[in-house]
Amino acid sequence: MSKKLLRSVREYKRQAILTPVFVALEVLVEVLIPLLMANIIDVGIAQGDMPYIIKLGLLLILMAVVALFFGAKSGQLGAVASAGFAKNLRHDIFYKVQDFSFGNIDHFSTSGLVTRLTTDITNVQMAFMFTIRLLARAPIMIVLSLVMTMTISMPIALMLLITIPILGGVLLYIAKKAHPHFIQVFDEYDVLNNTVQENVNAARVVKAYVRADHENEKFGKISSIVFKLFTKAERIVAWNSPIMQFTLYVVILVMVLIGGESIINETMQTGELTSVIVYAIQILSSLMMVTFVFVQIMIAEASTDRITEVLDEVPEMADASNARTEVANGDIDFEHVDFSYSGEGGNLSLKDVNLHIKSGQIVGVIGGTGSAKSTLVQLIPRLYDVTKGSVKVGGVDVRDYSLKALRDQVSVVLQKNVLFTGSIYENVRWGDENASDAEVQRVCKLAQADSFIQDFPAKYETMIVEGGNNVSGGQKQRLCIARALLKKPKILILDDSTSAVDTKTDALIRQAFREEIPDTTKIIIAQRISSVEDADMIIVMENGEINGIGTSEELLKTNAIYREVYESQVKGGADNE
Ligand SMILES: Nc1ncnc2c1ncn2[C@@H]1O[C@H](COP(=O)(O)OP(=O)(O)O)[C@@H](O)[C@H]1O
Ligand SMILES: [Mg+2]
Repeated sequence: MSKKLLRSVREYKRQAILTPVFVALEVLVEVLIPLLMANIIDVGIAQGDMPYIIKLGLLLILMAVVALFFGAKSGQLGAVASAGFAKNLRHDIFYKVQDFSFGNIDHFSTSGLVTRLTTDITNVQMAFMFTIRLLARAPIMIVLSLVMTMTISMPIALMLLITIPILGGVLLYIAKKAHPHFIQVFDEYDVLNNTVQENVNAARVVKAYVRADHENEKFGKISSIVFKLFTKAERIVAWNSPIMQFTLYVVILVMVLIGGESIINETMQTGELTSVIVYAIQILSSLMMVTFVFVQIMIAEASTDRITEVLDEVPEMADASNARTEVANGDIDFEHVDFSYSGEGGNLSLKDVNLHIKSGQIVGVIGGTGSAKSTLVQLIPRLYDVTKGSVKVGGVDVRDYSLKALRDQVSVVLQKNVLFTGSIYENVRWGDENASDAEVQRVCKLAQADSFIQDFPAKYETMIVEGGNNVSGGQKQRLCIARALLKKPKILILDDSTSAVDTKTDALIRQAFREEIPDTTKIIIAQRISSVEDADMIIVMENGEINGIGTSEELLKTNAIYREVYESQVKGGADNE
């Protein structure tokens, strides 16, 4: 396990260190028990000394209780240490992810991050617990048992000394053989998780498209791959137990032979032989334990790597120490902006974009899907950084602001927007957690959401569930607009945010913007000409480039794409809804 991860043990270090200490104490007591038994047999029974037998018997019980106490204590401490370690790790990853930019998240994918926060952490937690509990136990047990055996019979100790590396080697060989299969199993788990997550997230879509059979088949396939791989791995590991048993019987047989001769020669006693056999059993089962832990650690290794990857990821965006916290106004300037999602040298999604927007203007953006409308506006609140050139807000490069200050002033309603589980009040207050009820209601009126909210029995206390599945698409969009308005931003960006709203309501929203927030720059991405027609400036995007800029009137004269869209929507009289 990497040092980096172990740093997350933090306040549980005490427990993590005490666990092996208690394990050692337990083993110390356990090792003495066979010795006592030998004395009971060789002294007590041989001489028919009943009081001696009772005395040692009581001592034996006492030691068993003490061993039990140490064992329970180490178990408790180990559980706290490993669960605490896992808690801290989860916390660290979660906090790290909060600092991720959109680019960082693209790098891992959402389900990749979820698996890391769940399955991978559980693997590491298990390995950590086994390590501090069992790995400490085995070596101490083996060494002490060997020492005890030596004091009784040198030849038998020698025989065990030879057996240990042989059996250990064989068991490790088995573990190594099974290891790649286990790794494969966990890789397949990722695929399995991904399928489940995607399917459950999109359960409604799956039903709507009657794709349940197809999804079942897909799941069945992956599930049976996992089954096969697991069987393969377990079939190899299954050799452990019989090999161990066989070795044990052989060892006991040899010990009885050696011991029997010694007893006949009177250099050893019967009780001593019994205790030596117990030591042998303890040594061999400790070996078995080590290989078991070894497999667990190997399994966790892959998880460790995946977790370290997240912890090592450098957040792409960090505030400069002298970052600006004031945004002067809603001016926006793009100067020779190139942008690629894969960084320098990658496929350019935006090519040499130049754009100047004055504070308070209403700007429409239209263009086909994939023409980079969303990409263009995401550069303004710095959801992504430009690859070349610069984006300025209020005359200052966006990279010179603190992220919080910038994003407080540039409010975006993303195309793929979501609401959270909670009341309407709570959801809209994402924009400003200190806003009063009246303030929330005001922005909801602005976004034309108030009327439908009043129709809900619980009104503003209505609970939103599952990202907004219990409100219609158009209602969700209006709530998201209200949330963005609550920030009182200097720039408001709507990325296709009224697509599910009827044209009349759409017009009312724009009218409210014009009257109520005249100083805010408004950028409206839309498919409908009617949504942008009355804008001060319309940008026509095509293939990552600005194809034309102007008012609707100007573009009708100069821009072929705009004219085509206009004619298909307006001239035919049909609003494409
Ligand atoms: N997160 C992303 N990672 C990589 N490529 C992306 C990402 N988002 C969008 N793209 C690509 O960038 C281009 C422009 O996409 P987008 O700005 O979403 O277009 P629009 O909003 O006009 O439909 C498309 O080719 C799309 O595949
Ligand atoms: Mg888009």
